[in-house]
Amino acid sequence: MATLIVNGQERVVHSTLGTPLVNVLRDELGLVGTKIGCLEGDCGACAIIVGEKINDEIKYCALTSCLMPLGNAIGRSVITIEGTNLDNRLSRIQKAFVDHNGIQCGFCTPGFIISAISFALTSNEITLDNMINAVAGNICRCTGYKSIERALDEIVNDLKRIDMKNRINWLINNEYLPEKFLGYEKQLKTNSAKTSYHNNGKIIAGGTDLLVQEEEAIRDGSHPRFIWGDPSLKTIRIENAKCYIGGATTVSELYSSTILNNMIPRFKQYLRLVSSTLIRNMATVGGNIANGSPIGDLSIMFQALDATLFLRGAQGTREIAIKDFFTGYKKTAKQDDEIIEYIYFNTLRPNDNFSFEKISKRTHLDMATVNSCLKLSRNKQGIIEQASFSVGGLGPTIRFMSETSKALLGKVVSDETFIEAERVAQKEITPRSRPEYKRLLVRQQLFLHLKAANDSLSSEVLR
Ligand SMILES: Cc1cc2nc3c(=O)[nH]c(=O)nc-3n(C[C@H](O)[C@H](O)[C@H](O)COP(=O)(O)OP(=O)(O)OC[C@H]3O[C@@H](n4cnc5c(N)ncnc54)[C@H](O)[C@@H]3O)c2cc1C
Ligand code: FES
Ligand code: FES
Repeated sequence: MATLIVNGQERVVHSTLGTPLVNVLRDELGLVGTKIGCLEGDCGACAIIVGEKINDEIKYCALTSCLMPLGNAIGRSVITIEGTNLDNRLSRIQKAFVDHNGIQCGFCTPGFIISAISFALTSNEITLDNMINAVAGNICRCTGYKSIERALDEIVNDLKRIDMKNRINWLINNEYLPEKFLGYEKQLKTNSAKTSYHNNGKIIAGGTDLLVQEEEAIRDGSHPRFIWGDPSLKTIRIENAKCYIGGATTVSELYSSTILNNMIPRFKQYLRLVSSTLIRNMATVGGNIANGSPIGDLSIMFQALDATLFLRGAQGTREIAIKDFFTGYKKTAKQDDEIIEYIYFNTLRPNDNFSFEKISKRTHLDMATVNSCLKLSRNKQGIIEQASFSVGGLGPTIRFMSETSKALLGKVVSDETFIEAERVAQKEITPRSRPEYKRLLVRQQLFLHLKAANDSLSSEVLR
């Protein structure tokens, strides 16, 4: 038995703590406005908003309730589409969807509306591009998207008037939210999110892998360790020229981190290639590394940054280089009870280069066919003093390309350097599937990385 706060009301539910929240909302509470499409985080039909009190401030985000275990919702404020309806009339966003014919069968509509409301609740930069990024995890199979885009454009233009300092009241006064929303906030002030970091069960962070891969085991499992949102596992800070990132930090928190965006100029652009806003709001750094995926985007990035993992388990604590962490397909050097508390790496120097590339079938919401990351440190003369090239999608684990990295040392970034490094890279890899295609992708990605460091690199070298 657990108590959940849904649309401002405390509701007692009986599902196990590992049950996907969408099932609790629909089957136990009858809130069927939240739809079930794929149950794998891909369609956004099950999107809900979750509010949480953090240091006396209430933070909102939208996420997919099919991948959120009930345990992660306890102590947070869950807002479903029903909780965003105004009495007897359409809200501003609903009306825009109707006016622009953004609805046909209507199955995807609650998810789109939730993502758009979450954007209105959270965005500091009101642009159509950012709004589209907010709904990038919502899929519609009827409308063809243009009519939805027109509705979103109208909303964005209206939201440009928003009073950021008095956001909730503005959204209520302008018919984006019902008045009862203020009550949801009050309710949250007396609650805080629960985590169960200290027991010995299965570690569950965002659940975006676990609820896809092991849904039944998680639903039926006992005493999970819910660590998502545990403040002691959430940090992004710099100390003594090292950057520390907590294991339960979400991809969205990386995305909005001033520290990381100052250090890596195109960081947001890279992170937009990782899943969707709905998934990034849940997915954590620790989960991305611990799942041992051979194409984990964050693992690739942190390997190029030569990160070290700090693990805590029943036997105490230890550190391990990320390069030594992956031991086989989805296998790692981590014991079951060990938690990745944080990772750290040397901060980039102002003229260091860091670039990430990812090729997948779809630009957004897709895993990589091949992904890679290159970090270069050069001296004042432009000579490469340190290079770390990391590639995924070529075998059972992500790969640190030690020979290729070495081949770059002592050189300037030039056409000749690319030709030589590419020759070494091709010797260093043995792609298991579609070898010719993957060799081509490694070649092109290495070129793009070096081009990012020296724009005058000529594409002639690719012929
Ligand atoms: C629709 C969809 C799209 C996706 N797209 C991408 C993508 O583009 N790129 C990408 O890289 N990934 C993608 N993923 C995969 C996934 O979202 C990420 O790997 C995510 O970072 C996993 O984090 P999590 O917190 O959800 O992990 P969870 O599912 O909670 O856990 C995953 C594993 O890690 C363990 N674990 C979690 N946290 C810790 C910790 N701190 N210490 C020790 N063990 C821990 C768990 O026990 C479990 O074994 C996608 C997933 C979905 C569903
Ligand atoms: S049902 Fe498709 S994302 Fe949840
Ligand atoms: S309107 Fe039918 S799925 Fe979007």
